[in-house]
This record gives sequence, structure tokens and C-alpha cells, in this order.
Amino acid sequence: MILLLGASGYVGQAFERELKLRGAPFRSVSRSEVDYTRFDSLRRLLNETKPAFLVNAAGYTGKPNVDACETARADTLQGNTLFPLTLAHACAVANVPWGHVSSGCIYAGAWVTENGVRREEKDLTRPEVRRLIETNPNSLAGFVETDEPNFSFRRPPCSFYSGTKALAEESLIGASQAYVWRLRIPFDEIDNARNYLTKVQRYSKVYDNFNSLSHRGDFVRACLDLWERRAPFGTYNVTNPGFVTTRQVVEQIEKRLKLDRKFEFWASDEEFYKVAAKTPRSNCVMDVSKLLATGVKIRPVGEALEHSLQHWVPET
Ligand SMILES: NC(=O)c1ccc[n+]([C@@H]2O[C@H](COP(=O)([O-])OP(=O)(O)OC[C@H]3O[C@@H](n4cnc5c(N)ncnc54)[C@H](OP(=O)(O)O)[C@@H]3O)[C@@H](O)[C@H]2O)c1
Repeated sequence: MILLLGASGYVGQAFERELKLRGAPFRSVSRSEVDYTRFDSLRRLLNETKPAFLVNAAGYTGKPNVDACETARADTLQGNTLFPLTLAHACAVANVPWGHVSSGCIYAGAWVTENGVRREEKDLTRPEVRRLIETNPNSLAGFVETDEPNFSFRRPPCSFYSGTKALAEESLIGASQAYVWRLRIPFDEIDNARNYLTKVQRYSKVYDNFNSLSHRGDFVRACLDLWERRAPFGTYNVTNPGFVTTRQVVEQIEKRLKLDRKFEFWASDEEFYKVAAKTPRSNCVMDVSKLLATGVKIRPVGEALEHSLQHWVPET
């Protein structure tokens, strides 16, 4: 039996749906039923249920966005760093293998190669960098799992949310029998305030940058596949291979959904942060070679986006 924590959340719901589709025996647990954030109740839960595997899709994300984490720092630290650490201890004691939903938001930018020299570039929107990537997309490479997070408390600036996610990863190093699955900007075909494709449509103005993205269903399938295949434990970037600019996403939305609106873009970072955001946002590209090398299949990002927009289910 698989134990699923955080099943009421945006990511947890997708795990629940996929586990049902697979006919896998599982049990979803909500804090309202058992306060699994407490070590003693968690230990009791693991002793009673004896799961073969545990999925942790619980965490504190901030609503409507990460800016809310700046004012709810205790909840953010508790939900994203202290709780995963508690879970790691409880799973180790109970000998339960598990997977933790982390985030790609602990990185900014990508690796850029120019004139044979490879460097970390945090700001991919700089005009000369943008030109380089547009003329030669191969000049850009994503972060791999062993790259040190560069959008974290150790390498500021970062948002408080990203800092707590990076700190959790650091404290999980050496956790036995644990997967750390890095999700990045979830989207799919279901119109929802948490879906990136919905968010882009609702922004008054759009912030253009380069990013890797994760189709929500593809993400949970890949995570569960890693466990089913008994792939080695450890950290995995779980995004759809490739990267896109927000402008490309907008063009696809315009082409497929034929909305009755014109999209505008923030003129500069300065304008965006002055008007629309409080805390710095992570924009980054991830490398998924490690995931693909296990044999797990996941569609390229362009294909996943196209499919989601073709099968778009508007909110009623
Ligand atoms: N959504 C994204 O854009 C995104 C991107 C990258 C990574 N992630 C990560 O994915 C995980 C799930 O995110 P999500 O978007 O599904 O979040 P969500 O919709 O807010 O759901 C999270 C769930 O976690 C449980 N929970 C446990 N401790 C909590 C706490 N202290 N505060 C609030 N909820 C708590 C709640 O379930 P119960 O109370 O029912 O138990 C809640 O429904 C998080 O670790 C997040 O950092 C999300």
C-alpha cells in the first residue's frame, strides 16, 4: 500500500488520480484526519499502516503566490523544511521508502556556453544572452541534480519559499531510501488558478523569461515510474525535456484558445518587481538526462503544452 500525504493539494490530487488509474492500493491522509506533521502521530500512522512506499506531496506554497510566504515565514519553514526532515526521520525509523516533491525553483538561469567558455548565467533575459540563445539554442544547458542551488539562502537573492525548499533538500542529503523529485511550474489541460496556463491567461501583463516546465500528469507518472522500476534513490529533475519562453507559451495560447484579449509584456525586470511582485522569482532551465537514463519516458515540453491546449477544459 502507498501512503499519500498532501492529497488535497494541487500536486497531491494528480498523484491520487494516477494511483487510481494504476489500480495501485493507496491511502490518502489529510492533516484534518491525522496530523502527520507531528513525529509521534506520523510514527503511529506508519506503524499502523506499514506502507510499502510513501509519497509526500504536502508543503506550504503560499496563496495566491510565493509572495505570501514572505509574511508567513514560520509556516513556510515548518511546511517545507522542518516537516520533510521529520518525515525523513520517521521513514528511516520505520524503514519506509518514500518520495518528496521538491522544486526546481532553487535555481536561477542556466548554463551558457559562449566562445567555448561555459558559465552560470542567472539572468537569461539580458539582451546579449537572449540573442545568443535565440541564435543558438544549444548554447544553453540546464542545471543537473549535482549543481549547487543558486537561488537559496546560501546563494541569495532568493524568495523565502525557495530558500526553505533548498534547505529541505540539503537536510535530506543522505536520507536513506528517499527520492527527491523536483517539480517545476506545473501545468495541464484543466483550467485552474494553480495551472501555469491559466495563470498566464489571467496576468494583466506577462513576464517573459526562459523556463523548464512540468506537465502535472507527466510529473506524477514519472515519479511513480521511478519507484515502480526501483530506480536508484536520490534527486531527480522531473520536468518535460526542453525549455520555453513565456512569449512562446503566449503564442501557443493565442493560436489554440483564440482568446478575446491582447497580451502585453512587462517592459523590464524593474517594472515587473516594482508593480507585480514582492519577492524575486526563479526562472530556470533544468536538465532531465538523469531521469531519462533510468528509462522513464516523459514528453518534450512543446508536445505537452500543445496537447494541453488542444484538450483545454475551461473552468465552468
Ligand atoms: N504548485 C507549484 O507550483 C509547485 C511547484 C514546485 C513544487 N511544488 C511543491 O509541491 C508540493 C505540493 O504543492 P501544491 O501546489 O500541491 O500545494 P497545495 O495545493 O497548497 O497543497 C499542499 C497540501 O499540503 C498539506 N500540508 C501539509 N502541511 C502543510 C502546511 N504547513 N501548510 C499548508 N499545507 C500543508 C495540505 O494537505 P492536508 O492539510 O489535506 O493534509 C495541502 O493540501 C509542495 O511541496 C510544493 O513546494 C509546488
